[in-house]
Amino acid sequence: MDPGGERLMLRDMQELTRRLWPSRWHIGDMAWMWFQHTGRESERRTALWERGGQTVAWAWANLPNGTLDLQLDPAHPELADEILAWFAETGGQSVTVLEDETAMIEALRRHGYREWTEGPFFIHLSRSLADPLPEPAVPGGYTLRPVRSEDDAEARAAVHRAAFTLPGGPPSRVTTESYRAIMRAWPYRSELDWFVTAPDGTPAASCLVWLDERNKIAILEPVGTDPGHRRLGLASAAILGALRTARDLGAENARVCARGDDAYPSARATYMSVGFRPYARNRTFVLPEATP
Ligand SMILES: CC(C)(COP(=O)(O)OP(=O)(O)OC[C@H]1O[C@@H](n2cnc3c(N)ncnc32)[C@H](O)[C@@H]1OP(=O)(O)O)[C@@H](O)C(=O)NCCC(=O)NCCS
Repeated sequence: MDPGGERLMLRDMQELTRRLWPSRWHIGDMAWMWFQHTGRESERRTALWERGGQTVAWAWANLPNGTLDLQLDPAHPELADEILAWFAETGGQSVTVLEDETAMIEALRRHGYREWTEGPFFIHLSRSLADPLPEPAVPGGYTLRPVRSEDDAEARAAVHRAAFTLPGGPPSRVTTESYRAIMRAWPYRSELDWFVTAPDGTPAASCLVWLDERNKIAILEPVGTDPGHRRLGLASAAILGALRTARDLGAENARVCARGDDAYPSARATYMSVGFRPYARNRTFVLPEATP
């Protein structure tokens, strides 16, 4: 699909997401997922289902790892089987849903999937923006500010890569080019994209917030701190800076997704330290012969 067509498809998917709020998805985390890696478009297959001229479901298969993300209008539970049949044709074997998506979970069991309970899982956390949001503070010499223009793309991509490249693992694939694509994506707003620089000018931490104006809900995606600058309050400061702006722009609530299992407590602990509380979790289902 050409880039313009891809963008229109994402907007259709986001329109459903906005209409179905609250759900597992937010228009912002979808934009992040779609644009964070440039040149990997061939690694995804997407499909839309329409009824009465309206999008009522989308499905997104990640080909290299055989996983499926999706959103289904609860008014059309009959489409669950069709979506799973489409996914089977991609060769995928693992499907993640929010725990209350009962029609989808019943369909997964009908199609032979079993719940995967041994591995990591993600939870959703939220907070009201009517509750106090302290003024952000950073240690002496550090600087906190929102992004000003695309000139900041290189610094933003660099801090993201530093935070998300695991020791001994492959480097994050977020590049200056892909970050520019994020900055041009709807509904990105630079005043909601905050970052911290260290005394020597190195970008050290960041938090990107996306706002769904219609539903007055902000989402954090992503948040990260360079390992050389952790536990200094930098992520918290970037989060608070971005959330205070989101509140000034009309957001009433904020949410974020984080690992819920005890093997990865840092992100959850960071969000809880700035007032977020867990309210839901994802569940992953796999075919009998598969591991996610
Ligand atoms: C999660 C992450 C962003 C935290 O960044 P940070 O700048 O170190 O966080 P802060 O210094 O603001 O931490 C604030 C509080 O969160 C909690 N916290 C943060 N990291 C923690 C950890 N490893 N273990 C336990 N609690 C932790 C603490 O309560 C901390 O306050 P304290 O240091 O006074 O005890 C950082 O570890 C990171 O980039 N991880 C990799 C990327 C990632 O997982 N991002 C989040 C998912 S999108």
